[in-house]
Amino acid sequence: PDSLRALGDRVGLAVGVAVAPGHLDDPDYARIAAEQFSSVTPENEMKWEVVEPTRGAYDWAPAEQVMAFAQANHQRVRGHTLVWHNQLPGWLTQGVGNGTISDTELRSVLKRHILAEVSHFRGRVWQWDVANEFFANAWDPNPLPSGVNGDNFWVQHLGEGVIADAFRWAHQADPRALLFYNDFNIAGEDGDNAKADAVYAFVRRLVRAGVPIDGVGDQGHLDTQYDFSGERMRADLQRYADLGLKVAITEADVRTFVDDAAHQNPTNPLAKFAQPYEYSQMLQACLAVSDCLSFTVWGVGDAYSWVPGWFEGEGAATLYDVDLQPRPAYEAVQQDL
Ligand code: XIL
Repeated sequence: PDSLRALGDRVGLAVGVAVAPGHLDDPDYARIAAEQFSSVTPENEMKWEVVEPTRGAYDWAPAEQVMAFAQANHQRVRGHTLVWHNQLPGWLTQGVGNGTISDTELRSVLKRHILAEVSHFRGRVWQWDVANEFFANAWDPNPLPSGVNGDNFWVQHLGEGVIADAFRWAHQADPRALLFYNDFNIAGEDGDNAKADAVYAFVRRLVRAGVPIDGVGDQGHLDTQYDFSGERMRADLQRYADLGLKVAITEADVRTFVDDAAHQNPTNPLAKFAQPYEYSQMLQACLAVSDCLSFTVWGVGDAYSWVPGWFEGEGAATLYDVDLQPRPAYEAVQQDL
């Protein structure tokens, strides 16, 4: 049977994976990442805390390892991510916290960061996740009228206009890169679709205002316990395409509760059906929208997944098990492509 990347090539869909350079020494990991995927996303290496650990001293080396791997294997790169509230360098959050970095200065620091990073990778990054996770979830207490999270670090200091500014700065530094807004639970994962609708209304305003945004990414972090609707995901992606935008699934995984130390045995016997089914639903939603450019999974295998570290008692979320053997979800994706 053909690799995911070969199958994706045939239908014009990039099939991507998040990689971490530390794991590329594992030959099985590197082989799967190279053979099965036509796009890579550095899992952490382009985040601000990694690229500028000390103020003014950039370290592009970890990201360049992923870039070199991508180049060697003829893969495209999704750049992730320019402005986000997490994984910021300590000098920045501490400086803002103790008042030594004023809001005016913070704005110029952010502008410089975006210009420096996007220029550094100019011509080498296919899609940039410019702004990540700005919208309030049902559990966030202070949404702004737009649905933007009023408690977001950047919004608190610079206002929600920072989102549009980030796109303008990124465009200035690399006019050819595709610029994405990226978030989770914005296409069929969220009960009342309120967050999805707020992001859509906001993005439509950006487009109408001429802000250089090219696409919207839905992360696609699912849980077998969610009431997920693939049909609504398709409709929610399609309405961006109808605005003239591209879309992408950027960080797909489907976690479930497990009861063993290796995070492999689902507690719910139905999970082994739900997991491949939900992967399949996400992929089919993307395939049904001709402007869906890429379907990226978040991690090569369970041994390298962020899920067990972030969601207590959950795991088994990726296409390959802890021993890098393909699981039923892999076959589901392969069949759909
Ligand atoms: C995660 C990484 O996978 C972890 O290694 C890291 O410790 C935390 O961040 N949404 C995102 C990604 O946009 O950047 C996050 O990645 C997962 C959630």
